[in-house]
Amino acid sequence: MRRAAGKVILLGEHAVVYGAPAIAAGIDRGATAHATLVAPGETSRLCLPHETVVADARGADERGRALAALLLEGARLPPLSVEPLSELPLAAGLGSSAAVGVAIARAALAAAGRPEPDDEVMTRATAWERIFHGNPSGIDTAAATLGGCLRFTRKDGPTPLRLARGLVLCIGLSGTSASTRVMVEGLARLRALEPERVDRDIATIAALADDAARAIEAGEPAKLGALMDRNHEVLAGLMLSTGPLDELCAAARGAGALGAKLTGKGGGGAMVALCRSDAGAEPLLEAFRARGYDGFVTRVEAARSRLLDTP
Ligand code: MEV
Repeated sequence: MRRAAGKVILLGEHAVVYGAPAIAAGIDRGATAHATLVAPGETSRLCLPHETVVADARGADERGRALAALLLEGARLPPLSVEPLSELPLAAGLGSSAAVGVAIARAALAAAGRPEPDDEVMTRATAWERIFHGNPSGIDTAAATLGGCLRFTRKDGPTPLRLARGLVLCIGLSGTSASTRVMVEGLARLRALEPERVDRDIATIAALADDAARAIEAGEPAKLGALMDRNHEVLAGLMLSTGPLDELCAAARGAGALGAKLTGKGGGGAMVALCRSDAGAEPLLEAFRARGYDGFVTRVEAARSRLLDTP
């Protein structure tokens, strides 16, 4: 059995697709996968609760194409049967598909008796993600693989951040979902129509993300919260927010959050709020429940980054 983290993007989603930096953190909820070898000559397959999907690079089922892409990326793996399980709401912007892809990559390598280096896991999981999302930046698979808190750019990949203090995050669920592919393509269309405005907004988000990385490393949560608020405004101006996401963000701020924004692709799904303390999370969850929304609390510990723990 292998695990991978879900993720929350603290700043920089969408802009990261165009080369800007983004800040993401792995969260406790994630995905698991169990893989076993099947007889040579059999076809690899995904065993889901109600169906089995065979790996087929040219098949009609995108899950079968995604499994084929993951298995074919890099050195060949023997035929496998894989059972994935996600603890995350689907298509909510919390990295469910990347967490599943990372857990499958790890489980497949383990079943084949191979080492599980992070680079190979990320490459295989990004091949899986490409089938579902078209043009993923790779931030979701990096956060799912490495956990902790990281700065990510397409050019440089993930760089772990040294948190001066832990972060208490409250996730609010708007109850609707959206396709990453549709949201990313929607922004690309807007950019084709209004290139100057969209590029200016991307540059603004890039600067906010870099300021946020400094605030995280300096232990300045109030500053980080203000940057998250500003990032949400810019994303909303790019038509990526929804009424329920705006309502959740306003409710979080009203209940004492230091900052709040949509997280991930937007268009539905989740938002993230930065709490003042552990005790500061409960009023946010109450405010969400009072408006008919679910939520949960997750913490990013200062000493949690796997890369930093490596001697
Ligand atoms: C999705 O979690 C984040 C986006 O920026 C897409 C990506 O980076 O691949 C919207």
